[in-house]
Amino acid sequence: MYDFDGALDRAPYDCLKWSYLGGCCPDRDDILPMWIADMDLAAPQAVLDALRKRAEHPVYGYAGKPDGYYEAYRSWMRQRYAQDIDRSWILFSPGIVPAIASAIRAYTKAGEGVCIMPPVYHPFASLIKANGRAVREAPLVIQDGRYELDLARLDAAASVSKVLILCTPHNPVGRVWTREELEAIADIAEKRDLIVVADEIHADLVYAPHRHIPSMAVSERFNERLVTAWAPSKTFNIAGLQTSYIVVPNPALRKALAADIDASGIGVPNCFGSAAAEAAYTQGGPWLDALLPYLKGNFEHLRDELKRRAPALTVYPCEGTFLAWIDFKGAGLSGDLHQTLLSKAGLWLDAGARFGTGGSGFARLNFGCPRAMLDEAIERLAGAFGS
Ligand SMILES: Cc1ncc(COP(=O)(O)O)c(C=O)c1O
Repeated sequence: MYDFDGALDRAPYDCLKWSYLGGCCPDRDDILPMWIADMDLAAPQAVLDALRKRAEHPVYGYAGKPDGYYEAYRSWMRQRYAQDIDRSWILFSPGIVPAIASAIRAYTKAGEGVCIMPPVYHPFASLIKANGRAVREAPLVIQDGRYELDLARLDAAASVSKVLILCTPHNPVGRVWTREELEAIADIAEKRDLIVVADEIHADLVYAPHRHIPSMAVSERFNERLVTAWAPSKTFNIAGLQTSYIVVPNPALRKALAADIDASGIGVPNCFGSAAAEAAYTQGGPWLDALLPYLKGNFEHLRDELKRRAPALTVYPCEGTFLAWIDFKGAGLSGDLHQTLLSKAGLWLDAGARFGTGGSGFARLNFGCPRAMLDEAIERLAGAFGS
């Protein structure tokens, strides 16, 4: 019923992943890009139909936030996560990144600490620094081949921070935090009086038996200090439409965040975003339910083939996201891993060093693509790093 195997030519359509390969390697025309986190898969048909319908009207002036923008998301959260979200709690932001920047400014003063758990989505650290705040790290630890929280380090970092930016599910290591882990984070947040900004952009992309627990489901008490950033961007492959939902139950925190969003001038939606988000959340469920096993199959195929054909590489378990976290340290490489991957394998991945402490020697591979494209990447990795 859904075809995820079809190849799409994205290069002619101003696509960051495919249209700028020349800038990265002017002397090669065979680079396969599997870095930035969008999928090489068509969005659900309902989204295409909604966008066509909107595009047919020839005026593309300023848009607002129609009821559909709110109600589609609220019913998605009710149906999929049993969360009742009051409409008044929702703030619009075009993206999660600008919302996190606003939260940093709204909840901290210059020089104050903001805690992150690297290796983690790299804009967290750069936004903290660019806004003149101090990065406080509580790096994840690897135990028995799996990433875990280091609660003692988190408590120490929290004691010198005002805000924690939580990545849940965690990009790039693919962990889906359990209720117990989230409760432990909430306990530390309360003890150290932290505001928690939970980036849940990958929430819908979780593989059974793992289950995403929304941070706002942890406890009413935790909600008093919680900002959740959510979006249909990754789930339905519509990141370029820049439509997000920032949920802030506490009125004082909401007011402060809304003030910074207003002051930044980013609070006006584009005229396609709501139509796409509404179609995705109201009609895209069956598409997502078919996509998840396809992505899970992609991940298992990658893991199993690399284990067999390039055993020097270690693929970490992926509980959620369409991003595989691969340890290249066993391949005995030296120098810049990004350049080595380009020159030896013709692959553009995100080198792990970008994700901060603990990321060196790793690379992140985006497996949100047709199986044939993944097979090509596997061939290249096996050819370059196989035994
Ligand atoms: C954890 C995480 N947060 C945020 C984003 C981007 O958010 P946005 O495009 O809405 O600013 C990404 C994109 O890869 C991501 O992985």
